[in-house]
Amino acid sequence: MRYNYKDLGLVNTKEMFAKANKEGYAVPAFNFNNMEQMLAIVEAAALKGSPVILQCSGGARNYMGKPVVPMLAKAAVDVAREMGSDIPIALHLDHGSSFEQAKDCIEWGFSSVMIDASHHSFEENIAESKKVAEYAHANGVTVEAELGVLAGIEDEISNDAHIFTQPHEVEEFVKASGVDSLAISIGTSHGAHKFKPGDDPKLKLEILAEIETKIPGFPIVLHGSSSVPAKFITMIKEFGGEIKDAIGIPDDQLRGAAKSAVAKINVDTDGRLAFTAGIREVFTNKPGEFDPRKYLTPAKNYMRDFYMLKIENVFGSEGAYKKGNK
Ligand code: G3H
Ligand code: 13P
Ligand code: ZN
Repeated sequence: MRYNYKDLGLVNTKEMFAKANKEGYAVPAFNFNNMEQMLAIVEAAALKGSPVILQCSGGARNYMGKPVVPMLAKAAVDVAREMGSDIPIALHLDHGSSFEQAKDCIEWGFSSVMIDASHHSFEENIAESKKVAEYAHANGVTVEAELGVLAGIEDEISNDAHIFTQPHEVEEFVKASGVDSLAISIGTSHGAHKFKPGDDPKLKLEILAEIETKIPGFPIVLHGSSSVPAKFITMIKEFGGEIKDAIGIPDDQLRGAAKSAVAKINVDTDGRLAFTAGIREVFTNKPGEFDPRKYLTPAKNYMRDFYMLKIENVFGSEGAYKKGNK
């Protein structure tokens, strides 16, 4: 074991989710790929007094390097404390693809892991998720599994259509696998292009309601929940980028879900768009700029400010813990 997450000041998601479900909000799970995105996330969460999950995909971990990820997560905890906030912070593997990968992350300081065996059969999904849950629980780490398949791209695996979660399967799945939270498919999808202009972007909230009756109080996770803000799409285009008009998940749909047993909502694309808009703006307005601090700082600030709004208006997690100051 290289690092025990507790020594890094991190927590698993157990208490976070129990409090979120009791108080009717969802914990934000924001993906990061570098120091600036980590700072955007922790500053937003600390300023708002919201618990937060720092989420790292396999691709992001390859990009940053195994030793860098736990140190950035530890730094996030230190930043929050320096700001005077007591928010709990988890480091979570997003879309884990194998037992070996989950085990390696646990050995390198992750406090929570996802095993995404949703592409396999129901029985194989249970078996793989159970194996991860047993190893993780022996190390105090929490586990998220997935039942149902989202349309779009999931860590390099692409699916054309949604396979909605079947409510009659969830009880057996969570009991047999022993996992701590369950990601479900109710119409969200990964990436910037969730709905086309003219579509009526609606989630299958009736499936969520039925799932809740089968596993009352059990923490539910929504992936693919970026809202794809028009502001950043416009900025990216205005400042020379190319991106098709796209529509994400409307805030009101997510707000309703956050008040229910949905305990964790995943957002990555919105942060990417905000960050990209910030960099493009500097490059367009100041073509002579070549100091990375000068273009990464506005990028980080756009991402932080957008996540603060999201915590306030969508997750409902503002003020769950002590707010910090910049
Ligand atoms: O669900 C996928 C996340 O947005 C992570 O994306 O695998 O490109 O890091 P990534
Ligand atoms: P978005 O692409 O909607 O941000 O979803 C992110 C996600 O689900 C990460 O697991
Ligand atoms: Zn996802």
